[in-house]
Amino acid sequence: MAETRVDSIERDVAEVLVSKEEIMAAVERIGKAVTEDFRGESLIVIGILKGAFAFMADLIQAIDLPMEIDFMDVSSYGTSTTSSGEVRILKDLSTTVEGKSVLIVEDIVDTGLTLSYLTKVMESRGVKKVAIATLLTKPSRRERAVNVDYVGYEVADKFVVGYGIDFAEKYRNLPYVGVLKPEVYEK
Ligand code: XMP
Ligand code: MG
Repeated sequence: MAETRVDSIERDVAEVLVSKEEIMAAVERIGKAVTEDFRGESLIVIGILKGAFAFMADLIQAIDLPMEIDFMDVSSYGTSTTSSGEVRILKDLSTTVEGKSVLIVEDIVDTGLTLSYLTKVMESRGVKKVAIATLLTKPSRRERAVNVDYVGYEVADKFVVGYGIDFAEKYRNLPYVGVLKPEVYEK
């Protein structure tokens, strides 16, 4: 039984916040909306590593349009559970975005620092338009106004893991979004 296995990651989960079924419903809903909104555009979908990789993989398959994909790795968090307040580009795009319509795919919008920065970066590179899709948002934590065009679910101000989102680089492979037991953070 999974519950009794010492190496099971599920035993560290206190609560499931967004189930696999709810995630896939959001993927379908956002995929359809993007398909309508970007028809006829030169679309490039940019996933923000590492947290957005799972959502990105599912979302692009729900968008029925020609597209390019690329990734950026941006850091506003270390391995701690609080924001450092600064944004750094750790890995930049390998393609050009000039004149293209950009959809940025993010796992979770928290303070808004990362996406307000990235939106400015895209605009400075001469994109035609830029839109944002995020699986999760924590509106109560917002410090910078960001125009998030497509949102999966709003979540409370809890540190979440799973479906790409980590705690200290672990738990990204949980098939749902959840909250860890307090003792896991204290280890
Ligand atoms: P900002 O504050 O710039 O943050 O909007 C966006 C990034 O912060 C990370 N983040 C989290 N990561 N659990 C995590 O593992 C969380 O609850 C959480 N909240 C924010 C996330 O990587 C996002 O890209
Ligand atoms: Mg993260």
